[in-house]
Amino acid sequence: MKHLVGALLLGVLGSHGAQASQALAVSKNCMACHAVEKKIVGPAFSAVAAKYAGDKAAQVMLVQKIQKGGGGVWGDMPMPANSQLSTADAKKLTAWILALPPKAP
Ligand code: HEC
Repeated sequence: MKHLVGALLLGVLGSHGAQASQALAVSKNCMACHAVEKKIVGPAFSAVAAKYAGDKAAQVMLVQKIQKGGGGVWGDMPMPANSQLSTADAKKLTAWILALPPKAP
């Protein structure tokens, strides 16, 4: 079963950039608290894209925030640290989130 899941995941990762990043977000557990289109525990990723549209400095800030966690931007609930996440993966996820079609929260 584990092999099957791995093979499926590899298939997804190998296909298309945006889909690969979404699969990465699923595998890193981001989608336990986030969805693309709606708020769950954390903000919708499309709302994050809207908030930082055209903000070049946001990319660097978000990579760090995803790894270290933090709060105070979207509400009372802070994001816990994702310290096992590599910087390369955090950059991939940030680039994917910021490239989503922006949508006001
Ligand atoms: C336990 C729930 C939880 C998990 C797991 C989680 N997040 Fe979050 N995330 C949050 C919350 C809550 C916030 C809002 C924090 C705030 O208000 O500053 C947030 C905020 C964010 C933001 C916006 C930060 C800002 O300052 O605007 C991004 C981007 C983000 N998360 C990406 C991710 C990614 C990528 C992952 C997976 C590696 C992830 N999150 C995993 C709960 C979570």
